[in-house]
This record gives sequence, structure tokens and C-alpha cells, in this order.
Amino acid sequence: MTKPLLFSGMQPSSDSLHLGNYVGALTNWVKMQDEFQAIYCVVNQHAITTPFDPADLATRTRATAAQYIAAGIDPEKSILFVQSQVPAHAELGWLMQCITGFGEASRMTQFKDKAQRHGTEGTNVGLFTYPMLMAADILLYNAAAVPVGEDQRQHLELTRDLANRFNSRFGETFRVPEGFIPKESAKVYDLQDPNSKMSKSAESDAGLLRIMDDAKVTKKKIMRGVTDADAEIRFDREAKPGVSNLLTIYSVLSGQTIASLETEFAGRGYGDLKKELAEVVEATFTPIRERTNELLADPAELDRILDRGAERAGEIAEATLATVYERIGF
Ligand code: ADP
Ligand code: NA
Repeated sequence: MTKPLLFSGMQPSSDSLHLGNYVGALTNWVKMQDEFQAIYCVVNQHAITTPFDPADLATRTRATAAQYIAAGIDPEKSILFVQSQVPAHAELGWLMQCITGFGEASRMTQFKDKAQRHGTEGTNVGLFTYPMLMAADILLYNAAAVPVGEDQRQHLELTRDLANRFNSRFGETFRVPEGFIPKESAKVYDLQDPNSKMSKSAESDAGLLRIMDDAKVTKKKIMRGVTDADAEIRFDREAKPGVSNLLTIYSVLSGQTIASLETEFAGRGYGDLKKELAEVVEATFTPIRERTNELLADPAELDRILDRGAERAGEIAEATLATVYERIGF
């Protein structure tokens, strides 16, 4: 019995994933490996649509892959690979560009936001055609399921439109993918600015918990996290966003309910909560960090894993591309 296919990609945008990536994406990806034939792609071609440094990109690509493995992505069970190692992505990406309307592409809000931030001169055309490459990423594998963050919903909708368009113009070829935002995944917020989600794009690093950070750094960030003036450890997103965020993180990582934490910490101070939380976070981060460092210390083995992933992905992608090329008269 073949399992339904799942595709998801992650940008190699940093040396370290952060807690938001871990609870919001990675833990779900690890769980979904059994139910699906999962394909996880480090999307380094997407990463060059904004300014980058080649040496950093190379390091981050490997570091990202290593952290996924360290966190529980099993490269035997799932297919883990680097996008540029499978040329079919760029090839189908070109074709997707050729069936996308200019106006349609111009309506992508993520492009509009980023283009506004970088200015016309600082914006490359790749950023504009990014959603078409993303469509190619997904359609090459005829993925049934595509777990995406909220910010990728519009791109997934475009992917569905392009799949339908291609199918009606050139004959049934692509499976129209379903997106889903994993329901049970928690959202965590910046420790310094608990009304904004924890993100690598935050102006300051102080509220961002990074897997690869030293335990001391993590503890310091937690101890300095903003709380509030009333000293009660109680979950209330509106009135007590800082404390609520700490409780959420504690709960997600420990498996304890928020209610049981409120009881456990009743009458105790924020300092206690933070100290224990630092231990809970480190209990999660330390083994991932150690395993990541082991993987990075053996470049030949990591290469072997990624080459094997690219080979397996390439087989599926090449077969799809061959059909597509035949359909369009190449
Ligand atoms: P960032 O916001 O740091 O740029 P990405 O956009 O690269 O993060 O996020 C990759 C995935 O990680 C998203 O699809 C989302 O599922 C998850 N994620 C990111 N930040 C958070 C967060 N603060 N809380 C929960 N999940 C998050
Ligand atoms: Na982002």
C-alpha cells in the first residue's frame, strides 16, 4: 500500500532554527512521516531571491538539513534533499511562469510586502516568480498534502490554480494539492515583544530562542523575557501576553497542560517559572544541538544522505517532468 505524498520545504535562512519553527513546523513534520511518504526539501533556490552571501548559504543549507535530521526527520523513511540538486524544480518552475498571468502574479501579497521593503532596485525578478517555483516544487511530486504556514496560503492557492489550468489546457497531469495548516500546532511569540510571533526576521535577537544557541544564551533570553507588573502566573493572552507565552512554551515542550502549570506555579514568582522553563527548553534543544553538531562534523556522511535524498526525489520529479514535456510538445 502506498502512502499519500506530502511535500514541504524550508528555507535555509539561518544557521539555527528557532523555537517557532520547532513547535510550529518541525514537530508536525516528524509526526507526519508515518502517515505520509514525506518529502522535505531545503529550498536553497528560493533563498537566493533576497540578498545572500554564498558561503553563508552553503553553511545554512547543510545546517538546516542537519537540524531536521537531528530533530527527528528520518532520511530513510522520508526523502530529505536540497532543491538545487534536483534540476527539475527550475525546469518546471520556468514552465509554471509561462502559464501564470502577470496580473495574477502581481497580486501575491508576500511579493508586494517584500518588494516594498527592499525597493524596486533591491528586488529581483526571482522574488516575483518565487510562487511559480513553489508551485513546481509541489506539483513535481503530485503531493496530496502540503503543510504550509498561514503566510503561504495564497501561494498554495496559486499552485492549485496552475495545476487546474495546466490540466485543462494540456490534459490531466497534476494532482491538485490540498494545503493544510496543522491544527494542533502552537504559535509562540517573541520573548521581548509577546504580541508578535517569534521570528528570525525580528529586529532584535533577544526574544528569539534558537536551537543552536548555547544553553547560557537561551537561559539569559528567557530570564529577560518581558512579563507584567502583577505577579500572577495565569494564562491570559490579552492581558498577560508575556506570561501566557512562557506558559504556552512550557506546556508545548513538557506536555503538561496550561491548567496544571497554573496550579503548579500558583503563588510562585516569574523568576521560578522562567528558571524551570529554561530547563525545559534546554531539555529539548540540547539533544538536537548535539546531534546536529555530530552530523556537521561528518560532512561525507551528510553529503551521502543528501545525495541519496536528491536521487530519490529526482526519480519522482524527472518522471513528472517527462510527462509534462510530452504534453506541451517539447
Ligand atoms: P520566520 O517567521 O522566522 O521567518 P519561517 O517563515 O521560516 O519563520 O517559518 C517556517 C515555519 O515555521 C512556518 O511555516 C511556521 O509553521 C513555523 N513558525 C515560524 N514561526 C513560528 C512561530 N512563532 N510559532 C509557530 N510556528 C512558527
Ligand atoms: Na517568514
